[in-house]
Amino acid sequence: MKIPEFAEQPELDPWLWLQKWLIDAEEEGENEPTAMALSTLSKEGSPRTRFVLCKGVSEAGIRFFTNLNSAKGDEISRNPIASVAFHWPRLNRQVRAQGKLNRVSEDDANEYFHSRNRLSKIGAWASKQSQPLESRDALLKSVEEFSDKFKSDVPRPPHWSGFHLVPDYWEFWQGHEGRLHDRWAIHPEGESWISWRLFP
Ligand SMILES: Cc1cc2nc3c(=O)[nH]c(=O)nc-3n(C[C@H](O)[C@H](O)[C@H](O)COP(=O)(O)O)c2cc1C
Repeated sequence: MKIPEFAEQPELDPWLWLQKWLIDAEEEGENEPTAMALSTLSKEGSPRTRFVLCKGVSEAGIRFFTNLNSAKGDEISRNPIASVAFHWPRLNRQVRAQGKLNRVSEDDANEYFHSRNRLSKIGAWASKQSQPLESRDALLKSVEEFSDKFKSDVPRPPHWSGFHLVPDYWEFWQGHEGRLHDRWAIHPEGESWISWRLFP
């Protein structure tokens, strides 16, 4: 990546910036403010995109959870890189980020799994995410079976965990009238960050 001579340190670290924009989106009443499009690469190298919910932003990265046996889980295990994009239409903002994926720790996955409601926990066992499903009844039957199996506590399935996206490129976009939008690119530089504007 060619960094322009006029690049400078951003006012905020990008993960703090994203945290702030997520809070703004929630306060603004955006529908699903934490939803982000996640793109991974298929075995053949073609891009595959779907939405997931961002469940935390920190120095460790942008965190999401999923079924490790899903199509995306399979793609990530082969090629642990991804790109995400958030869009908040009311605020006219977009954030994109791309980089490597790291599995979250077992403690992290357990803690988040146990914060979910019972049906979501049962669903994590009942759904063979991304596999062909014969009928909705078959899914409901599977939910019933796991509800019977786990009468009280529902353990985290071994195939359910999460990832941190550790971006090596971020872009913050604030829309303005006449398509004269503000765009800031951010790139890591040693322990810090370097930022520059892009034409919209
Ligand atoms: C708003 C929204 C949020 C979603 N959040 C998640 C999520 O956090 N984790 C997840 O595995 N799937 C989530 N999904 C479902 C995925 O988009 C997708 O259908 C599923 O994970 C299977 O994807 P795959 O076959 O590419 O692995 C969400 C869907 C929507 C529309």
